[in-house]
Amino acid sequence: MPLSLTGKPDTSDLFLPAQLGPYTLANRIVMAPLTRSRASEDGVPVPLMAQYYAQRASAGLIIAEATNISPQGRGYAFTPGLYTPQQVEAWQPVTRAVHDKGGRIFVQLWHVGRISHPSLQPGGGLPVAPSAILPRGKAFTASGYQPLVMPRALNTGEISGIVSQYKVAAANALAAGFDGVEIHAANGYLIEQFLREATNRRTDDYGGTLEKRARFLLEVTAAVVDACGADRVGIRLSPMGHANDSTPDTDSRSTYLHVVERLNPFGLAYLHVILGTAQGPRHVPGEFELQDLRRKFHGPYMANNGYDRERAILDRRYNQADFIAFGRAFISNPDLVDRLRIGARLSPADHQTFFGGGAAGYTDYPCMSEADRIAA
Ligand SMILES: Cc1cc2nc3c(=O)[nH]c(=O)nc-3n(C[C@H](O)[C@H](O)[C@H](O)COP(=O)(O)O)c2cc1C
Repeated sequence: MPLSLTGKPDTSDLFLPAQLGPYTLANRIVMAPLTRSRASEDGVPVPLMAQYYAQRASAGLIIAEATNISPQGRGYAFTPGLYTPQQVEAWQPVTRAVHDKGGRIFVQLWHVGRISHPSLQPGGGLPVAPSAILPRGKAFTASGYQPLVMPRALNTGEISGIVSQYKVAAANALAAGFDGVEIHAANGYLIEQFLREATNRRTDDYGGTLEKRARFLLEVTAAVVDACGADRVGIRLSPMGHANDSTPDTDSRSTYLHVVERLNPFGLAYLHVILGTAQGPRHVPGEFELQDLRRKFHGPYMANNGYDRERAILDRRYNQADFIAFGRAFISNPDLVDRLRIGARLSPADHQTFFGGGAAGYTDYPCMSEADRIAA
C-alpha cells in the first residue's frame, strides 16, 4: 500500500512499536518536554498534572516538563522539582497514571543557570552561571515577568556540588516512578551556558578550550548515568539554538561533534536534537548539517521542532530520525497520536495559558470529535 501523506491511515512506521533503551514504545511519537508551571509554589506536583500526562499517554514516550534539580536551578515560577521527599512523593501518582494507561514517561532534569531571578532563588540570591554575563530577556516570576539580572559566576569548588544534585535528582526520578530521565543541555540553560564560548569565559578546568567547556556536560552525564543506568538516560541538545539569549559558537559543528563523540562511550538511550531554534525556524543562518550528529551518535536519534504529520512521516520514510518529538501540538491535542494516524485536523494551542493557571488550557483540550474523525 502506498504511503499516504494526506488524510488517510498509512503504513508509516511512525505509528509502530519501537525499542528505546529497555522499553518497547507503542510508537515513535514523543511528547517533547513542555514547561506548564502548574506545580505549587514550592515545586510540588499537583493532581492536575497526573490528569494532564495521563491524557497524553498514547505518545510512545512522554518527556515530562523540565524539572528543577535544586532550589538554585529554578528559573520559572510554579515549576516542579525533584529535590525534596514531598516532590518525589507527589510525582508518583503522575507516573502511575501514565503507566496505568500503558504509556512511558521520562522527566527532564533542569538547572537554568543565569535564566532566573532573585525572587526565585534561595534567600533572594543572585542566579549563578559559568561567567557573570548579563542575559537579555525576562524571567517568569510569581509576580509576573521581570528583567533578568547579572548572574554570579560559580566558584570552581561549587561545581561538583551541582553535579551531585543532578545525580540525586536522577535517583529521585526513578524513586518517583519515572522510566528514565532526559538531561536538559539545550535552550540556553546552565549546561549550554558552560558549553558555549559566548557564555563561558572561565579560566579554570571548566572553560577555555572546547574540551573544558564540555566538561560540565560530561560530568553531569556521568553522574546521571551512575544513578539511572545509561539505557534510561537521554540528552537534549539545541546545536543551533538561540533561545534564552544563547549564541551558537562560531564553529558549532566542531562543538557538537565533540560532544556527541564524548557521549558515545556512555551508551545513552537517545540523543534528542532541536532543529534550528526551539519554537522558531527549523533552519537558521549558518546552520551545519545536523544529520552529521546523527551519523556520529551510536544510538537512537530523536528530532524536534516544527514537525507536522507530513514532515514526520517523510523523516521516517527517508530515515532522518528514529523518533519525532512534538511540543505545542501535544498541548492542544491530547490524542495527537490518533489524529496523526488518521490525518485528522489538529486544534491550535492557546498561548495565553501556556504558563501558570489551572485546568483551563491544560486539561480541558478535548479529544477529536466524531466529525473530525469522519472528515479525516
Ligand atoms: C509552553 C512551552 C514550554 C516548553 N518547555 C520546555 C521545557 O521544559 N524543556 C525543553 O527542553 N523545551 C521546552 N519547550 C520547547 C519544546 O520542547 C519544543 O522544543 C518546541 O515547542 C518546538 O517543538 P514544536 O514545534 O513541536 O512545538 C517548551 C515549549 C513550549 C511551547
